[in-house]
Amino acid sequence: MCGIIGYTTRKDNSVEVAVNGLKNLEYRGYDSSGIAFFDGEKIDIVKAKGKIANLDDKLASQDTKACCAIAHTRWATHGEPNEANAHPHNVGKVTLVHNGIIENYAVLKEDLKAKGYSFNSDTDTEVAAAYLDYCYSQTGDKLQALVDACDSIRGSYAFDVIYEDEPTTIYATRKDSPLVVGYAHDGNFAASDISAILDYTNKYSLINEGEFVKITKDIVTFYDKDLNKIEKKSETATWDANQYQKNGYDHFMLKEIYEQPKVINDIFERYYTDCSYKDIDFSKFDKIHIVACGSAMHASLVGKYLLQTYGKIPVMVEIASEYRYSEELITPSTLLIVVSQSGETADTLAALRLAKEKGAYVVGIVNAVGSTIAREVDKCIYTYAGPEIAVATTKGYTSQVAIFSTLALMAMEEKGYLTQETAKEIKEDMLSIEPKINDVIANREKYLDIANDIYNHNDLFFLGRGIDSSVCMEGSLKLKEISYMHSESYSAGELKHGTISLIDKGTPVISIATDEKLFEKTVSNIKETKARGSYSIFVTTENHGDDHSEFADKTIILPKTTDFTEPILTVVALQLVAYETAKLRGCDIDKPRNLAKSVTVE
Ligand code: F6R
Repeated sequence: MCGIIGYTTRKDNSVEVAVNGLKNLEYRGYDSSGIAFFDGEKIDIVKAKGKIANLDDKLASQDTKACCAIAHTRWATHGEPNEANAHPHNVGKVTLVHNGIIENYAVLKEDLKAKGYSFNSDTDTEVAAAYLDYCYSQTGDKLQALVDACDSIRGSYAFDVIYEDEPTTIYATRKDSPLVVGYAHDGNFAASDISAILDYTNKYSLINEGEFVKITKDIVTFYDKDLNKIEKKSETATWDANQYQKNGYDHFMLKEIYEQPKVINDIFERYYTDCSYKDIDFSKFDKIHIVACGSAMHASLVGKYLLQTYGKIPVMVEIASEYRYSEELITPSTLLIVVSQSGETADTLAALRLAKEKGAYVVGIVNAVGSTIAREVDKCIYTYAGPEIAVATTKGYTSQVAIFSTLALMAMEEKGYLTQETAKEIKEDMLSIEPKINDVIANREKYLDIANDIYNHNDLFFLGRGIDSSVCMEGSLKLKEISYMHSESYSAGELKHGTISLIDKGTPVISIATDEKLFEKTVSNIKETKARGSYSIFVTTENHGDDHSEFADKTIILPKTTDFTEPILTVVALQLVAYETAKLRGCDIDKPRNLAKSVTVE
C-alpha cells in the first residue's frame, strides 16, 4: 500500500524521473499523490487527489527543475483521500513520504501537541514528520534523529526524508514495508520497489529492517541502528523495464492472462529438470498449515485439496489475518506454507513471524524475488511469474496453484503413492499444459458472449464441489473486484441450506463441474437453481459431452486434464469472463476502486 520514491541527481530532472517512477508504483495505491522537490532555494510541495495523471497536470504548469525529489502515491489508511492528507508531509525542517502505518500515532500526536506542534491533516504520517522534526531539534544530527524517531514509533514504515537544511540528501529507513536503494548513472534512488527505477538502472541494494541510509547524488552510505557504517554489495535485477509495459494489450490484466501458458509451463518444466525444493521432507511434520490472503488463499485451498487427496496429508488452510487465533495449533512439527505474490502482505508476514516464534518450519511460495516474505521464510519456492502489475491477480494465482500441484506430486513420490503409470500420466499432463491454456484463452468470443448476458445484473452465484468449489471462489473474487458486481461463491451442495432463497428469475449462476465423481451431484444442484428461474452458465470438460441444454443456457467446454492442471484451465476461463464483464461495465480494470496491489497494512 502506498508507493514511495526519492531521487537525488547531478542533473535537474529529479521531478520528471520521480514522477515517472511513481507511475510504476501506482499499482500500490492510487487515491492521491504528491511530490516535494528542491528548486534551488526552497522545498516545493505539489499534491493532487486521484491518479498520478492529475499530479502530472499540476506539475506541467510550473518550473520543476530540481536536483532532488521525494514522491508518493497513496492508498488511504488514516484520513480520506484529499490533498491535505496526501504526502509529502512537511513539519518544521522535515519533509517526508511514508509507506506503512504508525500504530501509536495518537499518543505521539498528543505528546507533540503538548510540545507546541499543530497539525494540518488527519494522517499518521504527519505525526511521524513532526516527531522526527522534534527529535532533530533535540540532537541536531539528522541520522541520529531518524534512529531516535524510529525507536519511539510503533508500526510499519518505509520513509524517504529530506531536511530543509540539507535539501539534496535523502535519508531513508524501513520496518515491515519494502524499500530498495538504486544506483543510476546520474544519481541515486530510494524506492518501494525495483519497478520504480528500472527505467534508469537495474543495480540495487535491499535495505534491511533497522538499517538507515544516507543518499546523496554521488554516494550511498548504509548504517546500522548504532550508526556504524555497513558495507553493502549491489545486486542486479533480472526483470527488465519492458515487462512493466502493456506491450500492445489493452490492459495489464489481459497481458498477464496471456502470459500464463508460458509461466505455468516453465514451473512444470523446472520441476522435471532442476527443482530446487525437492528436498522438503514432508515426513518430518505431523501437520501442514497453509496461510495466505485473498487469491493466494484461494490457491491454497486448491493446494489443500491436492495435498490431502493425493499426498494423504491433513492440511489446514487459514486466512492470514485469522491465523494468530490458531496459535495453540502451531508447534515445532508444523510445516507452515505461506503463499504471497508480492511477498510483502502484512498479514501473511505476521503469520509467518508468529509461526517461526513457535518453532514451525516455514516454506514460502512467493513471486517477488527478494521480498520480505521471501527473505524471512526458511525455504522460498519462487513462482518466477514475472512482475504482475494489474491489481487483480491472474498469473500470480495460477502459478501458485502450479507450485501446489508439484508439491502434491512430491508428497506422493515421497510416500510411495506414485505408481509408474500415474507418474507418467501426470508428467505428460503437466508438460503439455501450454497449448491447452492457449486453447482456453482462444475462446474469447464465448467469454464476451457470456459477459453480455451477465454484465447488467447485480447479483451472481458461482457453484461447484470439491476442487471446483475452490476455483469458484477465485472466479467470484475476480468478477467482483474488477466489475463491482456482487457475486457469491457457494459449495454446490450448500446452496439449498439457505442461500437458494436469493435465486430469482434470471439470476445468473455460473456452475463448474470438471470432476467426474461429482458431476451428477453438481448437475442436480444446478437443476435446483434452474427450477427457480436461474440463468445457468455451465463450465465443464469435454469428456462430459457438449450438449447440456437441459440445464444450461450457456456452456464453456474445457480440455480434460488431471486435477493437477484442470483448476488452472478453469480459472483462466473465469478470469476472461470477469475481464470482458468489467470491460462492458466500463470499469478501471487494472486499478479497481479502493484496492491496492500490495497490502502492507494489517
Ligand atoms: C486479488 C488479489 C488479492 C491478493 C491478496 C494477497 O486479485 O490480488 O486478493 O491475492 O491481497 O496478496 P499477495 O499474494 O501479494 O500476498
